[in-house]
Amino acid sequence: MTQTYPSLEWNNDLVLDLNFMDDTHREFVDLLAQVTEVTDEALLPLWDSVIAHTQAHFDREDRWMEQTQFGPGSCHSREHSQMLQIMREVAKRGAAGNLAMVRQMNHELGIWFNTHAQGMDAGLAEHLRAVEFDPVTGAFTQPAEADVSVGGCG
Ligand SMILES: [Fe+2]
Ligand SMILES: [Fe+2]
Repeated sequence: MTQTYPSLEWNNDLVLDLNFMDDTHREFVDLLAQVTEVTDEALLPLWDSVIAHTQAHFDREDRWMEQTQFGPGSCHSREHSQMLQIMREVAKRGAAGNLAMVRQMNHELGIWFNTHAQGMDAGLAEHLRAVEFDPVTGAFTQPAEADVSVGGCG
């Protein structure tokens, strides 16, 4: 029998008060919930969708950090790339037959994201709000703070 793991539930602590980040995060949490429900037959294609969504999500945040010269961006981006690497490794294990590992990773991804969103993403959201960043044009109207220390690698 397939072991099931609970996935992250959307909660108020995840709200960053920045629509274009919150919308993506809600979609991500929805995808994790779908993974807990899906049959074994449909698990790997869905996991690929989670990876694709996460890649696009992280790429956008990485780009915004570059565009606005966000100081702690390199630590944040490194966390993104490390997580994507793990997710791809788990997809390979899944393709080799270890579906339980995919389901367990989905659970752990939710735990990781809960921390990531409230730490690094919250710091980024605060910065993007402060510089009045427009994600459509990439423009921002306020100068970046020189000494932003939120979300360091520490
Ligand atoms: Fe994010
Ligand atoms: Fe992030």
